[in-house]
Amino acid sequence: MARLEIITVGHPTLALRARPVEDINQEIVELARNMVETMHQAPGIGLAAPQVNVSLRLITVDLSVGENDKDLIIMVNPEILEAEGEQVSEEGCLSVPGIYEKVLRPSRVLVSGYNLDGKEIKLEASDLLARVFCHEIDHLDGKLFVDRLSPLKRRLVRNRLKKELGKT
Ligand code: NI
Repeated sequence: MARLEIITVGHPTLALRARPVEDINQEIVELARNMVETMHQAPGIGLAAPQVNVSLRLITVDLSVGENDKDLIIMVNPEILEAEGEQVSEEGCLSVPGIYEKVLRPSRVLVSGYNLDGKEIKLEASDLLARVFCHEIDHLDGKLFVDRLSPLKRRLVRNRLKKELGKT
């Protein structure tokens, strides 16, 4: 397993709509394993392939950050089938270092996708897990959590990011 480089806000790949995975081949399996390693090392509770500069619809999620094997979810071509309720809580992102802001998300989602064996999986998630799925699937659509903030908040965040990343 290898740790991959996580790209940050401003990188063009993060703004792309990622392509579906057509074939769960050895390359995809290896990418997924490396993403898990990268997510655990970061540490983070979720990672989307575009964050490691691969524009494919693949995400990894682990609320236990490697503590509990059964919390690890690897999902290929994930889709939100249903969303209901609302929750507002602070969110961060490995690609937006140092920024934490409150984001409105559904409180419950039904997600479908495929595991690495090509088997279809359907998962109901609530609270933090629902939030992580929404956040990671947003990445696949070229959207960062800061894109969901009000224009004023976004301007403030942009200024803080300039300092954080030394970018303009
Ligand atoms: Ni993120």
